[in-house]
Amino acid sequence: MTTVRPVRRADRLTGEEIAAVLAVADASAAADGVFPLAEDTVLAVRHTPDEPTESGAARAHLLSFAEDGLAGYACLDRSDPAAPAGELVVHPRHRRGGHGTALLAAAAAEVAAGATLSVWAHGDGAGARAFAEGAGFARARVLWQMRRPLTEPLPEVPLPAGVTVRHFRPGFDDELWLRLNARAFADHPEQGRWTEADLRLRMAEPWFEPEGFLLAVDVGDTLMGFHWTKVHPATGDVPRMGEIYVLGVDPDVHQRGLGAALSVAGLQHLALHGVQQAMLYVDESNAAAVALYRRLGFTVFAADVGYQKIV
Ligand SMILES: CC(C)(COP(=O)(O)OP(=O)(O)OC[C@H]1O[C@@H](n2cnc3c(N)ncnc32)[C@H](O)[C@@H]1OP(=O)(O)O)[C@@H](O)C(=O)NCCC(=O)NCCS
Repeated sequence: MTTVRPVRRADRLTGEEIAAVLAVADASAAADGVFPLAEDTVLAVRHTPDEPTESGAARAHLLSFAEDGLAGYACLDRSDPAAPAGELVVHPRHRRGGHGTALLAAAAAEVAAGATLSVWAHGDGAGARAFAEGAGFARARVLWQMRRPLTEPLPEVPLPAGVTVRHFRPGFDDELWLRLNARAFADHPEQGRWTEADLRLRMAEPWFEPEGFLLAVDVGDTLMGFHWTKVHPATGDVPRMGEIYVLGVDPDVHQRGLGAALSVAGLQHLALHGVQQAMLYVDESNAAAVALYRRLGFTVFAADVGYQKIV
């Protein structure tokens, strides 16, 4: 029989709670072979005490405790009230004890009746599927992680006539980039809503380097597209990895080969800096992007699954 677990809700986490949440996530990653929280959730956890972002204010942190400390954690993002999204993780030692169920119920209680609540599972595991489907959630979205070795030659893809590439200048390009990002990702539930604070948070990360943030501009320096790369440091036996972090093209100049040319320019930048493996995340249903990445030699490496339920 499953015990009903009380859940504590917090708008902000204390330093101790932040450490405890990250320890639960690390223990889960060690047991399952996949980290259970996305980058934006980790940023929201790490920066709650003193650096709230606009999108961060829409987040709720949910904590479930056992006798020996934090047993489980859920993060709920309500920046789109009609389509809130969350992630949850239970320490391997405390699984099958009702913590997951309690966290999911607490997340559902935080959102408006009739909203479509998504919960993301990283790695498409059978346990997460059984848990989510048992709670009445259905598999609705799949986010692929695709990879490609950079030790193999990249295709030559020229930039469209009149277009050049320069790198992002922090403090000068911020506003223009945010505007283009919103236009390029108008239909994207998460990416299109990034605010100045979301951008600043990432520019303050140790991995951020303007040289790896490429902007495509026309002769008048009008921004037409961008390719922001990110280098993940080596961990354990996984070597340094370069990510196509965000790639966007102004909808007015779609279908002119700019996406492919910018992709290759960023991958060349990574290869020149000695990175041997590239990866990216893409929604399985984004046919245009998937076709582009397949043409560039990327194959599917892993999948994250979004489960949904109208609550
Ligand atoms: C998925 C997860 C959150 C479940 O947490 P939990 O505290 O163990 O879940 P509960 O104890 O509330 O389980 C409720 C029911 O879900 C089902 N379930 C949970 N884990 C399961 C598993 N590994 N295999 C099969 N069924 C499972 C069972 O029906 C269970 O009821 P029972 O134990 O009485 O049989 C936890 O395994 C976890 O943290 N996994 C890694 C992160 C993750 O995948 N998160 C995304 C979830 S959508």
